[in-house]
Amino acid sequence: MPSADFNILITEPIPEKAITHLKKFGKLTIADKGTYNTPESLIDDIPDYDALLCMLSTPVNEEVLKAGKRLKIVANFAVGYDNIDIKTARTLDIHVANTPDVLTEACGDFAMGLLLAVSRKFKQAEAYLRNGNFKGWEPLGFLGMELRGRTLGIIGMGRIGQAFAHRARAFGMNIAYHNRNRVTENIENDLQATYFDDHRVLAEQCDVLSLNCPLTPKTHHLLNSKLLNTLPSHAIVINISRGAVIDEEALAEALHNNIIAGAGLDVFENEPEVHPRLLTAPNCLILPHIASATHKTREAIGMLAVEAISSVLSGTPSSQITNLITQ
Ligand code: DGY
Repeated sequence: MPSADFNILITEPIPEKAITHLKKFGKLTIADKGTYNTPESLIDDIPDYDALLCMLSTPVNEEVLKAGKRLKIVANFAVGYDNIDIKTARTLDIHVANTPDVLTEACGDFAMGLLLAVSRKFKQAEAYLRNGNFKGWEPLGFLGMELRGRTLGIIGMGRIGQAFAHRARAFGMNIAYHNRNRVTENIENDLQATYFDDHRVLAEQCDVLSLNCPLTPKTHHLLNSKLLNTLPSHAIVINISRGAVIDEEALAEALHNNIIAGAGLDVFENEPEVHPRLLTAPNCLILPHIASATHKTREAIGMLAVEAISSVLSGTPSSQITNLITQ
């Protein structure tokens, strides 16, 4: 039974439908954006709450979890959950939920859009026009890379990696990939995807390299100067996963020195800050972490997060809650 005794903290406003659903399960506190962007800010308040619905920018570390004496569940408003100390949550029997599946298509669309925008220089061409430089059609203006027949290398062939690959196939691209575990033969056949065990061998084949892996100690700065130097000089890098999978200093260096031709980045290591050398790098399209930002998807993310909270608070066996990371 829903209980008004449960206190639920939402770290910033989320879609209304999710809030309306969650209200039935306890007393909500909806904080203003930015209130809980440090562990210190959470540690003081978390002891009052039974459930926390947080953003990917909310650092839910060991101290926060230990301070959450009543805490039963942390639901992340995101599929990635590198902001949460999962090991400690398990030890303390605090459930952690994420939001898989519902954002896959929005992110697949977005990755394809990012690639098109960078490969065809949308940003520079628009600036050229807005600055009054467009004096008529030019045979040599803004020449970019055509995608048909090019190879898209994907590191991280999970749901979002596959969604991007499907779209890229429709544009006539070849797919090469690396993943922790090789995907099934069916998926490989469907995408005509070639598996590479070694990142460097994969990078040598790529015209475009996309990072779609989760951020873990193993993937931290996975795209470093060594790997960047393996890419052909016309290559484009796409990242919609987490900023820290790229060594941003090395990427900025590669862009400034024409080691690669361009980058489309939706994520950054120290969000909301962007590495200053990326801000000035040529052919680098940078966006404020909006891959999943569609009305439909953000509402679905909200519903999935609040359903996990309402299920845990109302005593549903954890085996029946599909989006729990900790069982
Ligand atoms: C997530 O959900 O992890 C994504 O980064 C949102 O775009």
